Order: sequence, then C-alpha cells, then structure tokens
Amino acid sequence: MKVVCGRASQNLGSKIAKKMGLEILPVDYKTFPDGEQYVKLEEETEEDVVLVQSIDSDSSYVNLLLLLDALHNARITAVIPYFGYARQDKKFEEGEAVSARAIARTIDKEVEEVLTIDVHDEGIGDYFETADFKNITAFKEISNHIEQKNNQFVVAPDHGALKYAETLSIQLDCEYDFLVKERKSENDVEIEKKDLDVEGKEVVVVDDIVSTGGTMSNAIELLKKQDPSRIKVVVTHPVFANNAIQNIYLAGADEIMATDTIERSISSISVCNPIVEEL
Ligand code: R5P
Repeated sequence: MKVVCGRASQNLGSKIAKKMGLEILPVDYKTFPDGEQYVKLEEETEEDVVLVQSIDSDSSYVNLLLLLDALHNARITAVIPYFGYARQDKKFEEGEAVSARAIARTIDKEVEEVLTIDVHDEGIGDYFETADFKNITAFKEISNHIEQKNNQFVVAPDHGALKYAETLSIQLDCEYDFLVKERKSENDVEIEKKDLDVEGKEVVVVDDIVSTGGTMSNAIELLKKQDPSRIKVVVTHPVFANNAIQNIYLAGADEIMATDTIERSISSISVCNPIVEEL
C-alpha cells in the first residue's frame, strides 16, 4: 500500500504515511499559465493506495479528480479530511444544485472507500452508491490538545455544533451548552441572547467549520458580555475566508486552535492519529 498526498494535504498525507510506515508515491504537480492543473505520478500502480486530499477549494477538487484519473488502476481509499460543498447537502430552494451530491457522484465509482473528518452532515454518505463512506470526529484528538482546567465551559455557537460540544465536554469533564443561530445570508448571522453560567470560566467555543467567522464572532461577542475569564475557539476545519481570523480576535477571542484538515498556519492539531487508527 502506498500513500498519495494531494496538493492540498501534503503535510497531513506525509504524516499519515510516516505513521503507517508506508511509502509515499511521488507526484509531479504543475499549474499551466492559464491556471489549468497537471498531475503526473512517478509511476503507475495497481496497488492499494491511500489518497489524501481535502476539498478546500475548487482547485483542490480538480486536483482530486486528476489524481483519481491517474490512479485509475489502483484500489483507492480516498481520505478527504475536509469535504467542501457539504453544507449544500440538500435543495433548500427550488432550482438549486445539491452540491454535495454533485461532488460525491464524481468520486463514487472511482474509489473503494471514502473517509471524512467531521463532515458537515453525515447524510451525504447516502450520495455514495458504491463506495463505502465513513466519517470520524476530530474532537477526541482535539481534547488531547486542550489543557483541562477546573473552571471550563464548552459552548456550541449553533445547534449543529452541539454534538461536538458534548464530545469535548465529556473529555474535559465540564459543562456545555449551545446558542441559537439564525443565518440571514452567507455573510450575516444572528445569535439569540442567552445567559450561560460562564462568569469567571474559560469558555471553549467549538464548531466544525469557521468560514467567514460570522458565527464565531457573534457568539464570542455575546459570551464576552457574560464575563468569562478567557475565550478559546476550537474548530476542525479552518476555512477562515478573508479576515475571519482577525475578526474573531477582534470579537474577543484569546486563542484560536484548528486542525490540519485544511493546512493553515493555525493548524496546530493534527488529525493524523484518528485517520491512521481508522485505516
Ligand atoms: C454551519 O452550520 C457550520 O457549522 C458553521 O457554523 C458555519 O459554516 C460557519 O460559517 P461562518 O464562519 O461563515 O459563520
């Protein structure tokens, strides 16, 4: 078995290979002057391959498609740590594309298995008709990186993140709660006022994705008014579009921690171990 590191997941893919004692199959990546990508494996293979590539942009998605094509003779396990487009997992309005389904269809017949981390909705697994689909959480690994203290309180900024708050609170042995969010547009969210028992406590706000940072910033502003001692933000997928990091700090966060499902400077927690355990 060999590991192929997609362009977006070279660090994580390499870590997985090292940890499993597997060879990395080298790939030559190029981008032509017009922006089109080119992929060439050092050698074709019919072996089992673990292909690691997040879909954190359209370009990463095209890179994944090209790798799947180059590896068409191999038996592929596709590790897609961040499965972009998963938030459009159904038709919310007439005429809309179901983006997660569209992406899944193009991968499905090319691979044996798909492994994702904290995918926005595990229901997208149903869009894979032939490939096995498995999603695992990063929050057990994340808890190993958060120092357990006496006065901690875990908060989910919306109902969707409640399961992550619960997992983390069990590991940290502290209380947890959630806020109620209403999304007005892709850039605008409102969070209902809610009194939580966070005065003097270290609050850990958790979510699967931070994109514009609107959800986090709103949640932090609300919590800040309730006098916590410190606010820590922990997220699996650090999309951090535009000025999201700056805006979250400006809202009052003291620290931001994220995993390497998307490789950013802030990705201090690796999802290598849970992936290796699953593989
Ligand atoms: C959606 O429900 C997700 O769990 C995140 O809360 C959302 O994607 C965050 O988006 P943003 O950072 O743009 O508010």
